Amino acid sequence: AIGQGTRTRLIGRERGYSGVGFGGISVGGIVNNRRQFGNLLTGVDHLPHTHNLEHNAFTMGRPEWGGHLADNLEAIVALHGAETIAAVIVEPMAGSTGVLVPPIGYLEKLREITRKHGILLIFDEVITGFGRVGGATASETLGVTPDIITMAKGLTNAAVPMGAVAISRHIHDGVVEGGPDGIELFHGYTYSGHPLAAAAGLATLDLYKSEGIFEHASSLHGYWQDAVHSLKGKRHIIDIRNMGIVAAIELAPHSGGVGKRGMQLFHKCFDNGLLVRATGDIIALSPPLILQKTHIDEIVGRIGELIETVD
Ligand SMILES: Cc1ncc(COP(=O)(O)O)c(C=O)c1O
Repeated sequence: AIGQGTRTRLIGRERGYSGVGFGGISVGGIVNNRRQFGNLLTGVDHLPHTHNLEHNAFTMGRPEWGGHLADNLEAIVALHGAETIAAVIVEPMAGSTGVLVPPIGYLEKLREITRKHGILLIFDEVITGFGRVGGATASETLGVTPDIITMAKGLTNAAVPMGAVAISRHIHDGVVEGGPDGIELFHGYTYSGHPLAAAAGLATLDLYKSEGIFEHASSLHGYWQDAVHSLKGKRHIIDIRNMGIVAAIELAPHSGGVGKRGMQLFHKCFDNGLLVRATGDIIALSPPLILQKTHIDEIVGRIGELIETVD
């Protein structure tokens, strides 16, 4: 629409997850998803992920090491040519591959490099949006503004399926005003803007405000961080990391295979009334934002007891 039709490449990230549509798998970096579906979208490259136990194990909040990994984007730009790259897409905090917290300065640097080269920056905030890491978005919380934000889950409290994309004014004007007269945006699904989902979304946003949910969750960040990090030193635990009301507990893999120990702990938790998520040997925690300190004590206490019973 703005005369830059050579920009067709997308840059995703290793260990990224943006869902299981073709586009999401293409920019994502989970090998088991990727290997099932052939060549996926063409013209996609990937940044390295930022997870590094050697430098960052047991960091509370954002790690100090790793901001320089964003410089790999310069190498990718040099390889392909900036004028062939449309956008870089990352989750501000990677969720599904085990809570990879962005190193200090990392997202800032991605913003700087993309801006310099006229490349759009997309934050996939499907997990990080709506109070999960503090403000309405991770972008707001961290003070880094992308050009596009994708969102879902917390938008309707996941009670009704709905996703949304927020775009900056210059993209809107480029597409809507730069295109031919007629339909503003040649895109739409059968259920786009579904009235039921839109009503659920509006009601959810009202409740977030009237009940002060983001503020409540934010007031627990310190308590949550201290509680999850109190598990340091327990059997098998090789890392604990956290951001907002999210945490990951990484376990050393069992000699019987990767993921076995994580799954064992998952089942033990489930049988004892605690639902956690196991992604390989990483236990990911992302409890409802209405939680109270007693719930945090219960979650952490139970994991602390049960980890001692895992082989
Ligand atoms: C960051 C992120 N993006 C996207 C999705 C889901 O995308 P889809 O519904 O298209 O598979 C998820 C699901 O967990 C997610 O964590």
